[in-house]
Amino acid sequence: MSDASSLAVEPSSKNRMSDDKDTNLILPDNLPGLSAWKKRRHLLDTKDLTVDEVETLIAVAKLCKDIHSKGRAPLTVLSHKVVANLFYENSTRTRSSFELAARKLGASVLNLDIRMSSVAKGETIEDTARTLVSMGVDAVVQRHSSSGSAHKLAELLQDEVHVLNAGDGWNAHPTQALLDLFSMQETGKTIKGRKVAIIGDITHSRVARSNIWLLQKLGADIHVAGPPTLVPVELDAFGVTVHEKLEPAIKDADFVIALRLQLERQDEGLIPSIGEYKRLYRLDHQRIKSCKPEVRILHPGPVNRGIEITDDLVDDSKVSLVNLQVANGIAVRMAVLYLLMFDDTDEKNT
Ligand code: CP
Repeated sequence: MSDASSLAVEPSSKNRMSDDKDTNLILPDNLPGLSAWKKRRHLLDTKDLTVDEVETLIAVAKLCKDIHSKGRAPLTVLSHKVVANLFYENSTRTRSSFELAARKLGASVLNLDIRMSSVAKGETIEDTARTLVSMGVDAVVQRHSSSGSAHKLAELLQDEVHVLNAGDGWNAHPTQALLDLFSMQETGKTIKGRKVAIIGDITHSRVARSNIWLLQKLGADIHVAGPPTLVPVELDAFGVTVHEKLEPAIKDADFVIALRLQLERQDEGLIPSIGEYKRLYRLDHQRIKSCKPEVRILHPGPVNRGIEITDDLVDDSKVSLVNLQVANGIAVRMAVLYLLMFDDTDEKNT
């Protein structure tokens, strides 16, 4: 893994997208996963990323964040590309940050309003995507309530478009996990050997799944806790420590990720009451005293304030990484878009 200083290494001419330094993204030569990214067409889950690919992505995200924080003009590296946002489910953070990320790289962005589209007339998600591809769209960023929908799209349109999974059902939300990792690493801690607790509705959480795959790959010690109806015990078999109670899960934790409680689960009888959930699992300043002194709290958002986490804690910038996570979403999504598309050669089609 290259350190931050190595980002200044003079690149080979191959990694330059233009000669204009102000609108270019210059990568160091020694990124370990660059060749794998050059062959990769889609980002569907964290499960199939190698450690080298993850480290390269984080290095590129750092570079993007640096450029972004200096207020530089949009880059031109993807100026010939069109990115389409297809969100069949609501989103604030993911959709906006994909759009900002694409624009900052110089790409054109198409935000399809699903409610006004022909989906309402029965058009399938594959036909909608195919239609956009016929119009010259290079990448589809898709969120859908059906698990596996992004994989299906990628399989059908394998060589025609890049598919970026922005959340599919309970299955995966890879860019959320990657921005969570980036935010954790920015605290200065390495992930290997760190205790990470994930609290809440694990069963229905694509964020939990993508984080578990990613953080385990990097050597984290993962603990989960939540109401027994919302935590799959089979996670034991994947090396995750499953707790019913919050206290042992967060004891000595380096990072605690609180998940959004999907309030409709109460109607399904999966949680006794919101009051009971708060009593047993809500994070507050008192409860996190049992964590490591330098613990950091994450939440993917949107936060149900006062349910998963108290107002005081979520707004405590000394402990809460929530705002940082949102900001880092842009840099991570810039990195993903760039790495998938900057080298669209025949190699990706083999
Ligand atoms: N974390 C997340 O996916 O937020 P949005 O639903 O607002 O995109």
